[in-house]
Amino acid sequence: MEYVINNSEDEPELLKELAKETYQKILQPRMLSGHPQGRILSLLSKIIRPKRILEIGTYTGYGTICLAEGLGKDGKIITIDKNEEIVKFQNKYFDKSGFRDKIIQLNGDALDLIETLDDKFDIIFLDADKENYIEYYKSISNKLNNGGILISDNVLWSGKVLESNKSDDIETKVLNEFNQILKDDKKFETIIIPIRDGISISRLI
Ligand SMILES: C[S@@+](CC[C@H](N)C(=O)[O-])C[C@H]1O[C@@H](n2cnc3c(N)ncnc32)[C@H](O)[C@@H]1O
Repeated sequence: MEYVINNSEDEPELLKELAKETYQKILQPRMLSGHPQGRILSLLSKIIRPKRILEIGTYTGYGTICLAEGLGKDGKIITIDKNEEIVKFQNKYFDKSGFRDKIIQLNGDALDLIETLDDKFDIIFLDADKENYIEYYKSISNKLNNGGILISDNVLWSGKVLESNKSDDIETKVLNEFNQILKDDKKFETIIIPIRDGISISRLI
């Protein structure tokens, strides 16, 4: 992994600072996307040049800033999180990011809030409660533009999806089913990238 990091794009200083403060002050810091995955989010966004991005699960805003790096002049990212205690933390870094006017934070349960959105998106980054991934898949199916991509995080779930038939863990079972649903859905072409906890990229054909 060290070789991969050393020979990949550097992590921007602001994101290093954000990650450090997340690890010092916020519960469950391992949820943060982090350096290599963050650079993938940034690169995908720069390739696609999206007008609208939806992020489901903001946490401390690491992924939000990475994705915002590819937004065009009038582009916007809507990011949803139910945890109101981290909004102040997010604002500190969104204010410094240079993307403040492009980031719209929504606070509440994502499944409820997605229903209220009229926009269609070029990128959706799914990174919230794993037990609801299939519900999210249903709720975002008509919210992607043709050619748009769904990026889903944690799809390998520390490798536990390989033995989901032996597991009583609801998240493992849902993630395994979610991966199979996307593989079988002919409206999408999907590839799983085995980086960090596994991300899948599904392009709406
Ligand atoms: C893995 S973290 C997101 C990490 C972030 N996307 C990043 O790239 O660093 C998951 C976040 O989802 C939020 N979350 C979990 N269930 C949710 C729900 N039903 N609605 C909205 N947010 C939710 C949690 O509060 C948490 O902050």
